[in-house]
Amino acid sequence: MTNIVILTGAGVSAESGLGTFRNTDGLWTEYDIEDVATPEGFARDPVLVHDFYNARRDNCLRARPNPAHYALARLEKKHSGPVHIITQNVDDLHERAGTRAVWHMHGELMRARCAACGHGWDAPRRMRAGAPCPACGNGATRPDVVWFGEMPFHMHEIPDLLRAADLFVSIGTSGNVYPAAAFVQDAARTGARTLELNLEPSAGARDFDETRQGPASALVPQWVEEVLGR
Ligand code: OAD
Repeated sequence: MTNIVILTGAGVSAESGLGTFRNTDGLWTEYDIEDVATPEGFARDPVLVHDFYNARRDNCLRARPNPAHYALARLEKKHSGPVHIITQNVDDLHERAGTRAVWHMHGELMRARCAACGHGWDAPRRMRAGAPCPACGNGATRPDVVWFGEMPFHMHEIPDLLRAADLFVSIGTSGNVYPAAAFVQDAARTGARTLELNLEPSAGARDFDETRQGPASALVPQWVEEVLGR
């Protein structure tokens, strides 16, 4: 029984029409990280930050899962052992493809959180600066995403998942953002075999036992069929 842990990044959703961050037309070439993805940026200009995430939420609602998301959902359903998907993506395409166990380490676009009391709720399509929290009434509504300088979510559970992995697979991530970029080393240290599926070799490609290059919509279904023995 192989215990599989999968890390996904923006590349898995690229063919669904959601932009990546660091490609030549990526979000971080158009926007300044400091402005839209830090607590300091939000404190300076919450309207700008909400506009940024409102636009990303609109794109996400228009997008559909692609064959890579569906293949991973099929793997979770058919594989005889555990399958855990840890995603850096804030979209909900894994869930919409049918995957149940998704660890959103960078949060979720479709959720809102109160910066004052921590209460969380389903985000309205358009969040606005100063909107009151339904629990405490404070006007500190923010997207439930992780910004640079903040602790990613599920960091109590993820090290245990990596330790228990027999196979660690990284899909569609450039390997530039920690702690996710180090998961391959964490998993390898406790004996997991490691595989990268990406359009191009990532920053950490040398750390993997095997790397395959190509679009996720082709590579992932092919790999899933291999694992399921068809
Ligand atoms: P990046 O934009 O850094 O990297 C995306 C990776 O996907 C690149 O290596 C591309 O080559 C690859 N790629 C692009 N299209 C692909 C396709 N069709 N099939 C397979 N691979 C493809 O995105 P992430 O690594 O996910 O964090 O970025 C990590 C984090 O940095 C994000 O979660 C976000 C960002 O800043 C926060 O906002 C906190």
